[in-house]
Amino acid sequence: LKYIGLLGFGTVGSGVYEILNNRSEELALALGEPVAVKKILVMPADLERKKAEGFDVSLLTTRFEDILEDPDIDVIVEVTGAFEDGLRYMRSSLEKGIPVVTANKSVVSAHMESLLTLAKEKETPFLYEAAVGGAIPILKPLKEEILLNRIDEIEGILNGTANYILTRMFEEGLDYDKVLKKAQELGYAEFDPTDDVEGFDSMRKLRILATLAFRGAVSEDDVIVSGISSITQADIDYIKSENAVVKLLGRAVRTGDTYTAVVEPIIVDRSDSFASVSMALNSIAIRGDHVGELRFYGEGAGKLPTADAILRDVIDILLGAARWRNDIGDEKLSNANDTQTGRYYLRVTTDAETLEAIRARSADFAVAPYWELTKDGSLIVVFGEAKRSDVYALVGEIELKREDFFIARVGYR
Ligand code: NDP
Ligand code: HSE
Repeated sequence: LKYIGLLGFGTVGSGVYEILNNRSEELALALGEPVAVKKILVMPADLERKKAEGFDVSLLTTRFEDILEDPDIDVIVEVTGAFEDGLRYMRSSLEKGIPVVTANKSVVSAHMESLLTLAKEKETPFLYEAAVGGAIPILKPLKEEILLNRIDEIEGILNGTANYILTRMFEEGLDYDKVLKKAQELGYAEFDPTDDVEGFDSMRKLRILATLAFRGAVSEDDVIVSGISSITQADIDYIKSENAVVKLLGRAVRTGDTYTAVVEPIIVDRSDSFASVSMALNSIAIRGDHVGELRFYGEGAGKLPTADAILRDVIDILLGAARWRNDIGDEKLSNANDTQTGRYYLRVTTDAETLEAIRARSADFAVAPYWELTKDGSLIVVFGEAKRSDVYALVGEIELKREDFFIARVGYR
């Protein structure tokens, strides 16, 4: 019998438990022996709740050490979402030579180098497929492609919650807060959904992808981040009138020995391949010099899709197919985010005097912008060719509140 120690029994943890039960025969056949959860780490309040529900409490513990010190456990699956505790659980497990599978992108993004180094030292697998793109198999193919290619571009819709919100606002005209609440009920959102809608979750995923793709550390601070929380019906009406949609995209591009890494809302034509990625789906494209473009697509969040990705890692470990070596190289690329230019959309909703001040200042841009006043009194400005930082500086100088403006790049090529 093979045993899993499960840390966390929320959305993803319960999905892991459910799939293991549903697919026990197939798994036993493939692995040559059955695989089961031996112990589950839960918070004290959950222990009481599970007792009341009649769950087999002999499986539950509130002490991590009960799992760490159990000699029967073959793999530890960390799905608590906790930052400090999550890191401690992963480190202690690897230190002891117990393979770790996690979906915890906050911890992986913040501590990827040290965790992979520890895994290598201990010759113990550390896998985190579920941390990027939910169900999509992306990290395993990427780790293979970096051996065969120089990867110069990686781009994608990396957050299910934000994409779900944008889709339902665009297609059904629903209210932002209402759709966000629905995404939380469906188990897509992070504990603090600010991470989803302000782009920090996508930033962590892009950092993980870019670090692997570019064979060297692209730290969280190397990624420019802006989100979608201030989008309004005025933005949607304008973008629709252009036969376009807006998507929260993460893009990392290497040019020579420099790279850029940005997460931002991007207005794309309806004909763009990202435009049709709807609801909580994610899509990721990578470009390598030998393989060309590879596109990955699938459920980006949710209980069973994420649990499925976790269990693929578990299967690789139990089959002895997981590499324990460090996947990060030592390339030293310099960050060229500041040099990026593009077309930029800005919508501002505030008093008439401030709008006039913005319109006057926008006239200073090298390429004269298009501007219009909407029926609800918002100002829309589209900058022909501008530095992203200059557009943000404009709203910064006028000290606009975050909720009073929305900025999106127009196109991304
Ligand atoms: P949940 O909040 O649903 O589940 C986490 C569970 O772990 C909760 O029951 C929580 O208890 C418990 N927990 C928190 N801290 C500890 C701790 N220190 N020790 C023991 N248990 C703890 O989160 P999800 O299942 O949605 O997410 C889990 C992880 O998977 C996160 O890292 C998330 O980012 C990642 N992920 C989630 C996806 C999704 O679609 N949901 C997709 C991809 C990745 P309590 O509620 O009492 O705090
Ligand atoms: N909150 C994340 C999302 C979960 O919505 O994409 C999947 O990583």
